[in-house]
Formats: sequence, C-alpha cells, structure tokens
Amino acid sequence: MVGIYFSGTGNTKFCVEKFLTCYEGRAEAFPIEDVQAAAAVKQNEEIVFAYPVYFSNLPKIVYDFIDSNQSIFSGKKIFIIATMGLFSGDGAGCSARLLAKCGACISGGLHLKMPDCIGDEKALKRTKEQNHLLVKEAENKIKKAAESLKQGTPVREGLGFWYHMAGLFGQRLYFYNKTKKYTDKLHIDREKCIGCGICVSACPMENISLQSKKARQQGKCTMCYRCVNHCPKQAITLLGKKLYEQCSIEKYIEGDEQCWS
Ligand SMILES: Cc1cc2nc3c(=O)[nH]c(=O)nc-3n(C[C@H](O)[C@H](O)[C@H](O)COP(=O)(O)O)c2cc1C
Ligand code: SF4
Ligand code: SF4
Repeated sequence: MVGIYFSGTGNTKFCVEKFLTCYEGRAEAFPIEDVQAAAAVKQNEEIVFAYPVYFSNLPKIVYDFIDSNQSIFSGKKIFIIATMGLFSGDGAGCSARLLAKCGACISGGLHLKMPDCIGDEKALKRTKEQNHLLVKEAENKIKKAAESLKQGTPVREGLGFWYHMAGLFGQRLYFYNKTKKYTDKLHIDREKCIGCGICVSACPMENISLQSKKARQQGKCTMCYRCVNHCPKQAITLLGKKLYEQCSIEKYIEGDEQCWS
C-alpha cells in the first residue's frame, strides 16, 4: 500500500504515515505536489488517499489532482482518510464519488478530528493540551481502522447517502464557492516581510515569489495555510486579518511514543 496525500500544515501527513505504519509496518507516502505521486499510484494496487477537509469539501489542489489524473485510478483499491478541525459530514465521500467515477474501488473511509490549522481565525482554537489529546485520540482511531482494514471489515466513515446529506446541508451548500476556485485573497504585509523566501519554497502552488526582496502572491492559492503558519515575521494572513496562532502538527505531538506495537 502507498500513501498519496495533501497536507497543508502536517496533520494529514502525520495521519497517513501512522495509518501505513499500523497497516504494514512501513510508511511510503507521497504528497500530491510531488512529481512522483502519479507514478506511485500507477505502480500500486492498494492506496490510502488522504487530505484535509476545507469547508466540507476537497481542497482545490486535491480536486485538480484527481481530475487531471483520472485514468490512473482505474481498478485501484482506495482507502480514504479525511482530516478536519471539527466536522465535515462526508469528507471522505467528496473524493470517493470522484474516484469511483474514475473506476476505483473505494475500500473504506476514515474521518479524523485534528488540530485546527487556520491561524488567523479565533474559532476552533484549542489549548496545547487539548490538541495533544486530540492527536492521541486520532492515533487510537487510526490503529483500530488499520486493524479492521486488515481483517477485511474496513470502517466506512463519510461514505454513503446520509453522510452525503450531512456534508451538503451541514456546510457545503453554504460555502460551495470557497473551494470552487483558487483564491487571490492571500495578504502579505510588505512592511513585516524580510524576504526570507520561506513562504516561496513552502507553497505547494508556486503561488508566491520574491520581487525586490519582498514576497508577492500571484492569485493561485489553495488555502493550505502553510505559508501563514511558517512565516517567521507573521506577515501573512488569509481568511482573517490577525494571526492568533501559528499552527503545526509538531507542536501537538507528545514525544514520539507509539500507541501500537
Ligand atoms: C481553508 C480551510 C477550511 C477548513 N474547513 C474545515 C471544515 O469545513 N470543517 C472542519 O472540520 N475543518 C476545516 N478545516 C480544518 C482542517 O481540515 C484541519 O485542521 C486539517 O486537519 C488540516 O490538515 P493539514 O494540517 O494536513 O493541512 C479547514 C481548514 C482550512 C485551511
Ligand atoms: S516567509 Fe514571511 S518574511 Fe519570509 S518572505 Fe515570506 S512573507 Fe516574507
Ligand atoms: S499561498 Fe500559502 S496558503 Fe496559499 S497555497 Fe501557497 S502556501 Fe498555501
């Protein structure tokens, strides 16, 4: 099994690697922005496909990856992991429906509540201890899900009619436009920017460049929050106007203890 994932701030990468380690004792996983990702899908029959939920929908970069690589998914057995801050309804179902149309067989779905990654919105902020706990609970859920997949009785969270209705009416209908296109709303404070280039190399969309030693965006942002959360001068905002916390999974992992053997 190989992992194919998108992860803005590390939650999803963490989860997919834990899942693979539980499932087969090793974690081979590629981010979708890696040129090897499509080849890895072609070379493997069993895939775990993972992404964070944005507004109860797929991040645009994930939608585009599936859309532009439709033929490679035909005949693949795909287990889907969707990570979220609180609620998605049918987070796994969003890609399952697309992948099934490409001829994939969806073996199961797993929803994992993880720390919020929207650094410039106050809502959903938790204490460090609460986030530690959340990650621990997710680890336990991953262990059980990997076990049940091994035993041939995979969990099927986010898949099916009622999940679809929950995702649609719980949130997606109201926020549909948010993930339909890439956004040009990223704001970079030129006064604060020191031109270090961290955001340039972090961005999976190649949306930021340096001009006259200042970062500048080009209007093709998938809202992953990687640049916002990594800028050493807190110069970047996206949905909000003020930064409350720079979120990253490393802050919320307690040691390197494994909750499985
Ligand atoms: C633009 C955006 C929209 C989001 N929308 C939702 C949402 O609708 N429901 C939810 O529970 N979490 C939402 N989240 C939170 C993320 O899904 C969650 O923190 C996820 O684990 C981040 O994963 P990552 O670190 O791999 O990027 C959103 C995050 C972002 C950046
Ligand atoms: S990471 Fe921040 S300081 Fe560095 S170039 Fe980007 S915006 Fe400027
Ligand atoms: S500009 Fe920032 S938030 Fe937008 S895609 Fe690039 S790294 Fe992610």
